[in-house]
Amino acid sequence: MKKIVTLVSVMVLVAGVCMQAMAGHGEEKEMKRGILLVAFGTSEPKAMCSFENIERLTRKRFPGTEVRWAYTSGIIRRKLAKGKVFIDSPTVALSKMYDEGFTSVAVQSLHSIGGAEYDKLKDIVSKFRQGSEAFEHIVLGAPLLNSFADLQRVAGLMLKEVPKSRKSNEAVVLMGHGTEHHYSDLAYVAAAKVFGDMDPLAFVGTVEGHPTIDDVLAQCKAAKVKKAYLMPFMSVAGDHARNDMASDEDDSWKSVLEKNGIECVAVLKGTAEYDSIASVWVDHLSDVMNTSKHK
Ligand code: CO
Repeated sequence: MKKIVTLVSVMVLVAGVCMQAMAGHGEEKEMKRGILLVAFGTSEPKAMCSFENIERLTRKRFPGTEVRWAYTSGIIRRKLAKGKVFIDSPTVALSKMYDEGFTSVAVQSLHSIGGAEYDKLKDIVSKFRQGSEAFEHIVLGAPLLNSFADLQRVAGLMLKEVPKSRKSNEAVVLMGHGTEHHYSDLAYVAAAKVFGDMDPLAFVGTVEGHPTIDDVLAQCKAAKVKKAYLMPFMSVAGDHARNDMASDEDDSWKSVLEKNGIECVAVLKGTAEYDSIASVWVDHLSDVMNTSKHK
């Protein structure tokens, strides 16, 4: 018994010394906090206002904390680099922050859903939790639609942003991105239901997943819609919004609907341009910034 008591005392003593040493070590390194905003990216200069808006709101919420950017899309980064605009990948941006002595980093995903791009980002962040370039503390904020509550909140906010000129018998058609290769495509099917419950003439479609423009067209026809407001359900009004949604190209959503006798009004604004919706992302950042070590 005595032996056990002695052993326990020694263990407690050793643990105490270790903790003291760790605390001492922690104090040596000066705390340096940073935020890394990570979007898919855009090569469309007119769409940059979305990112500028979210950066402005982030700086306002976290004054004094450095804010940096990275794009997950290699295609966009390479396209921009040809025009001598260099945006880091998340890996490069985090390595640079590590080298500059940041100890505590909050990475915020500016993706709309937890799809393939978000998965990529999650993997990258986990690589900076251990190993030779591990931060003392690194957290990752969730994408826009991370829960049913997020979806309800965003749908409510989005419907408030529909131009006031819209009449009650006119439709709102939202264009999400969508994906054929990831289960997160289901988010848009859920979004269609939530928007529809709030406003029977609000329809959600996607460019690359489900629901499709054919689904939206069928809904418009069934409701005998004569006019529709087309709005991107993406953070930026980039290439998809300008070409696939609003252009006069033969297969754009505008052309498809107009061929079916539905007049279209395109609203070329990304969701991050609206303070109300951009704030949802900033709230997600707040959620992870408020974890104990980040305070
Ligand atoms: Co795309």
